[in-house]
Amino acid sequence: MRLTGKHIVLGLTGSIAAYKAAYLLRGLIKEGAEVQVVMTPAAKEFITPVTMSALSGKPVASDFFSANDGTWYSHVDMGQWADLILIAPATAATIGKMAHGICDNLLITTYLSAKCPIMIAPAMDMDMFMHPANQANLAILRSFGNLIIEPGEGELASGLYGKGRMEEPEIIVEEVIKFFDQKKKLLNKHFLITAGPTFEKIDPVRFIGNYSSGKMGYAIAEELANAGAKVTLVSGPVQIKKTNSGIKLIPVESAGEMYQHCLRIFPEADGAVMCAAVADFTPENYSESKIKRGNDDLLIRLKPTSDIAAQLGQIKSDRQLLIGFALETHDEMANAFSKLNRKNLDLIILNSLNDRGAGFGVDTNKITIIDRDNNQTFFELKSKTEVAADIVERIVQELDRKASSEK
Ligand code: CTP
Repeated sequence: MRLTGKHIVLGLTGSIAAYKAAYLLRGLIKEGAEVQVVMTPAAKEFITPVTMSALSGKPVASDFFSANDGTWYSHVDMGQWADLILIAPATAATIGKMAHGICDNLLITTYLSAKCPIMIAPAMDMDMFMHPANQANLAILRSFGNLIIEPGEGELASGLYGKGRMEEPEIIVEEVIKFFDQKKKLLNKHFLITAGPTFEKIDPVRFIGNYSSGKMGYAIAEELANAGAKVTLVSGPVQIKKTNSGIKLIPVESAGEMYQHCLRIFPEADGAVMCAAVADFTPENYSESKIKRGNDDLLIRLKPTSDIAAQLGQIKSDRQLLIGFALETHDEMANAFSKLNRKNLDLIILNSLNDRGAGFGVDTNKITIIDRDNNQTFFELKSKTEVAADIVERIVQELDRKASSEK
């Protein structure tokens, strides 16, 4: 499933090759893509919307609004939703309209509204394909940054032989996958992430824990996996689920367990992001039986846990990136920077409990990234997913910097 999570608008135009679009759609769906089919009026003469809606699991969009109930098909929403618009087959007429912005159907309005990349698989007779008008239109589309999947050479519907046949559906699917892979900046990189709280057992029914929800760590793990990285997520007990198949989840309970796994995994990794709220202390003695209520005070003696981030900082090589978090309540910058040095981190991500919307349990965060030279990059309050995207962008930059300083 190499297209999981990808939103694709598949545009169909009036060509005999439209029948191949059914195979193309099936191929995209099989790879996990979510596909919205948009058909021009002419496309419906060649293949029925029923076939395409059954295969995509969504109503086909074709008119600006539904004649039955007046539902408005917003080309703007579709253009914003899409990660890619793939027009296959694309006739000479559609290519011409795209080149000149002639918006007389829903597909062209969607094309003009879209912010995402566009792929076009032309299909037509060889003379039409080679005509200077069509070639000039294709050149205009290339100049817009649109990607053209060159038609193949072979027998054409007209009975002639030449260039103009829409590329085979399975090859177009591979082109789409290749396109998304190129955008993945962390392919072949391996990251270790810690997330969530740790629970330190007192007796069979009690533990010392904290309010960490794990949301920030899971969001970073998802973003790294979306960027193509292999991710090992060592997580304390949380209520959230990972969704990306590129993430290997290792559930743990205590700081001690988290430490063991991290020490084993880190030497193989290109970097680690330590998001877990690890308990700093754990009961010195665990009571095998439930501690009964008495009249006296109960004294539980705690011993320090190992500092996982600091330990990884000790064994870190020059090529590895180690990132920690600091949740502070006062003297935030100074405390975070001294933590970075103490733990030998490359970056520390500060969030202050004094900022509304930052910290435990909430869906938002406000961070400052501090580096080894005490450069501080401030970010606005954002959703944890957006914060994770900012952090991953910085990770990509830091790895590039490390790679170029090694040369
Ligand atoms: N950390 C860790 N192992 C620990 C404690 C902390 O890996 N036993 C990591 C956290 O995941 C975080 C960073 O170290 O990335 C800073 O955690 P924090 O709790 O803020 O720091 P402490 O060293 O515990 O310092 P203090 O509690 O005194 O602020």
